[in-house]
Amino acid sequence: MKKVITYGTFDLLHYGHILLLQRAKELGDHLTVGLSTDSFNTLKGKQSYMSFSERKDILESIKFIDKIIPEENWSQKAKDIKERKIDIFVMGDDWSGKFDQLECEVIYLPRTPKISTSSIKEVIKVL
Ligand code: CTP
Repeated sequence: MKKVITYGTFDLLHYGHILLLQRAKELGDHLTVGLSTDSFNTLKGKQSYMSFSERKDILESIKFIDKIIPEENWSQKAKDIKERKIDIFVMGDDWSGKFDQLECEVIYLPRTPKISTSSIKEVIKVL
């Protein structure tokens, strides 16, 4: 069984997130999502509109996702990959080159153009 993992905040879930998750799942048989906790977001200088538990509830309804785990710090990825026997690490290409040192196959998928959580926040004027 090929295991895939990806990470993110997935706030105000949008079409770009769905396409990323769909393509990530297609790379293997089992997809884990490391979902940024609210305190990790604070550490990153990011504030989400929806809480961790709201974002998690939404992701749980997506058919491409098999498992959701909280992501609490930067060093967690290497540990998750080892402990969970992950074969493929996937991120959007806004992260290109940033995770090349991880000990599994690393794939950066092209981002879906013209949509992001930040642009949605701009339009609906939240945060
Ligand atoms: N992503 C994507 N295409 C988009 C937006 C996001 O493929 N148009 C991917 C990101 O590259 C990442 C994952 O979705 O791998 C989660 O991204 P996240 O940072 O939660 O969403 P963004 O919309 O990029 O949020 P922000 O605008 O706050 O950076």
